[in-house]
Amino acid sequence: MDELCLLFAASGLELVPRELWEHPAVKAWAKRRGKRPGQTLLDVSIHRPAMLNLGDAERRGRPDIVHFCSLLALGSLLNRNRLLSLHIHTYDGKIIRVSRHVKLPRNYNRFIGLMEQLLVEEEVPPGSSEPLLQVLSCDLSELMEQLKPSKVYLLTEKGYKIKPVDLARKIIEEKTPMVIIGCFQAGDFSSEFYEIADETVSISQVTLEAWNVTARVLSAVEDALDLH
Ligand SMILES: C[S@@+](CC[C@H](N)C(=O)[O-])C[C@H]1O[C@@H](n2cnc3c(N)ncnc32)[C@H](O)[C@@H]1O
Repeated sequence: MDELCLLFAASGLELVPRELWEHPAVKAWAKRRGKRPGQTLLDVSIHRPAMLNLGDAERRGRPDIVHFCSLLALGSLLNRNRLLSLHIHTYDGKIIRVSRHVKLPRNYNRFIGLMEQLLVEEEVPPGSSEPLLQVLSCDLSELMEQLKPSKVYLLTEKGYKIKPVDLARKIIEEKTPMVIIGCFQAGDFSSEFYEIADETVSISQVTLEAWNVTARVLSAVEDALDLH
């Protein structure tokens, strides 16, 4: 394996959508932070009353999931050994390239501030020739064209059952495998993810949190490569 391409998919990471800008909970939170509503992240722990009538609410407003998962991925032995590339696909279809060198804030509030800056300015640091975080001007199918993974594994409770250790053995046989993990709270992937997947796999009988799946899969691949 040359590199594992990890894609966090349909992540609940987006700026507050236009239709909620006038909601009192949204306005109050933005004012408190000295920002306009459209410059703040949608977060169910802050905006629950505003999200009551928002379509697809169960898959939105959960930046904490991608925060946990990204910290796990970036701190992994795979990443430290330059064997991981990370992209984040967001609920509203943006693709974020994450440099393996970025040090994401451990503190959730600081992470939120960083993501707001990124989604407004499209790169962090702004104007850098090698941004640590960058919103790419491409969609999912263009990203797949660019990365050309040798095999795409979609992790979902609906997939065929396989132990992480056996999945890892298959992954490391590939030159540039891609692993897709959903960073949303509930619901399912949209059909485009099933279409790009070569294999849909499940690593347990029960539904796991995205960070749990991230940890188990990356750790199994590290074991299979004997990176310890
Ligand atoms: C909390 S789940 C989202 C719930 C959703 N019903 C699902 O599993 O597709 C977050 C993500 O973790 C991964 N996941 C959860 N349980 C899994 C399992 N048993 N096997 C493989 N991946 C799993 C999937 O990528 C999923 O999108």
